[in-house]
Amino acid sequence: MRLLKTVAGLQAFLQTLDSNHALGLVPTMGALHLGHKSLIQRSIQENQSTVVTIFVNPLQFSQNEDLSQYPRQLTQDCNLCETLGVDVVFAPSRETLGMTPDCSPEEGLTTTVVPPLSMTTGLCGQFRPSHFTGVATIVTQFLSLIQPTVAYFGEKDAQQLAVIRRLVKDLKLSVKIQGCPIVREPSGLAYSSRNQYLNEEEREQALTLSRSLFCAQEAFLNGKRQANALLHLVRQEFAKNPDTQLQYAELVHPDTLIPLETLEDRGLLAIAAYVGETRLIDNLILGQRLPIIAIDGPAGAGKSTVTRQIAQKLHLLYLDTGALYRGITWWVIENQIPLDDEIAIADHLESLTLVLIPETGGLKVNGQEVSESIRRPEVTAKVSQIAAQKAVRQQLVKYQQIYGKKGGLVAEGRDMGTVVFPNAELKIFLTASVQERAKRRAKDLEKQGYAVELDTLAQEIEQRDYVDSHRRFAPLRQAEDAVVINTDDLTLEEVVSQIINTYDERGLG
Ligand code: PAJ
Repeated sequence: MRLLKTVAGLQAFLQTLDSNHALGLVPTMGALHLGHKSLIQRSIQENQSTVVTIFVNPLQFSQNEDLSQYPRQLTQDCNLCETLGVDVVFAPSRETLGMTPDCSPEEGLTTTVVPPLSMTTGLCGQFRPSHFTGVATIVTQFLSLIQPTVAYFGEKDAQQLAVIRRLVKDLKLSVKIQGCPIVREPSGLAYSSRNQYLNEEEREQALTLSRSLFCAQEAFLNGKRQANALLHLVRQEFAKNPDTQLQYAELVHPDTLIPLETLEDRGLLAIAAYVGETRLIDNLILGQRLPIIAIDGPAGAGKSTVTRQIAQKLHLLYLDTGALYRGITWWVIENQIPLDDEIAIADHLESLTLVLIPETGGLKVNGQEVSESIRRPEVTAKVSQIAAQKAVRQQLVKYQQIYGKKGGLVAEGRDMGTVVFPNAELKIFLTASVQERAKRRAKDLEKQGYAVELDTLAQEIEQRDYVDSHRRFAPLRQAEDAVVINTDDLTLEEVVSQIINTYDERGLG
């Protein structure tokens, strides 16, 4: 791992990467904890290289805040990054970034990126007026300097995440912003670099933050939908702890941050509070969506048959990704767009609507029923060429996530539980040994009248596994919280019932 401290050093490193190198970026202010670690690990899993920035950004601190006190522990942070497999830690000095000591956004001495006021005047913005301009400015600097494929941000700082998503959208930056779930201590306290300021007694009191949120969540799950009623519960919890001081509690739309009166779809319940002198933030997404089951695993482990059966038995939508790819392929052929003209295809994709018909397992493309046409041999022959295109895959993930908003579905693939539905209630990793998969494949081929050597099949399967786990797009990934089922000695019925039992045990049914 390299520790780089200057822009020149970083640029020299970046120049060694080829243009389609998958590069992950994790911006931090250091004093790394398990929250940061989860972002870094995710980046390492999903990219060829990972850069972690460690920079206590003066632009986002105002005069009376803790800039000089903010914990700095570069050596310890670098050790952690090194053990995790980070390629570069970029820890620039203010000078190399061209920041003078009086460079706060209020001074007007530096170019700043000002997010929409509607997103920065509420929540933390009321109390930290130039904070998000400072964050947006440094993040834009890092994104344009490093040009990562994906940048990782925690949901812990939900307002920051929403502002950055909006910034990337408005400035049309070509980077994917990946939000990552909040990591909490077993007590419920969300990890934060500022937890270091707390003494033992204050740590105990700091639990009021998460406790108040969970209390509102329980009421929400029991049917409370009015913002006032939910926020009242949060305030009540703080009133029980006079040594804590709630600064704000708000229920807002998670993307626009506009306050909600009633919760219809999803809401972000966010709070900030003082525990002694320390200001802490926390939040929770309250959502009404139905459960999602994500099934991943290597080819030949029986995913598609299992997934269909689960959908049928649990009355869930089978999110037939294959049909969606076929739908796009059919439409490309129908519109006589050359299959290899990725640019023309990308340009048309946004205007396309694909709707699965749950009752029949069919598909509509732009309102036209195409369930049979998408199974035609010319579509079958071309679907893999279309599915390999980056823009197509990105659009597909968007489609899948639109279905995911409502939930009530089961989906299978290679990265359903990690990339497409990282918040799925149940993640399954279905696998089987190479020998077993070779035997199953041989049986299938035998039925079709072919005889193939088991060893040859095993070699092919091993090769396919390698390719699938090293794909540039959607490589095979096992989610950390997935339930692993090895199907070697199990019948189809046993696998299906094992999954249904887990689903029931988790109270999802
Ligand atoms: P910092 O507070 O160091 O956080 C770096 C990243 O880690 C942020 O994306 C934050 O949301 C995430 N993070 C912090 N605690 C977390 C937790 N408990 N669970 C999950 N993720 C967590 O946020 C900043 O730095 C700065 O504003 C920065 C974006 C680096 C710009 O200066």
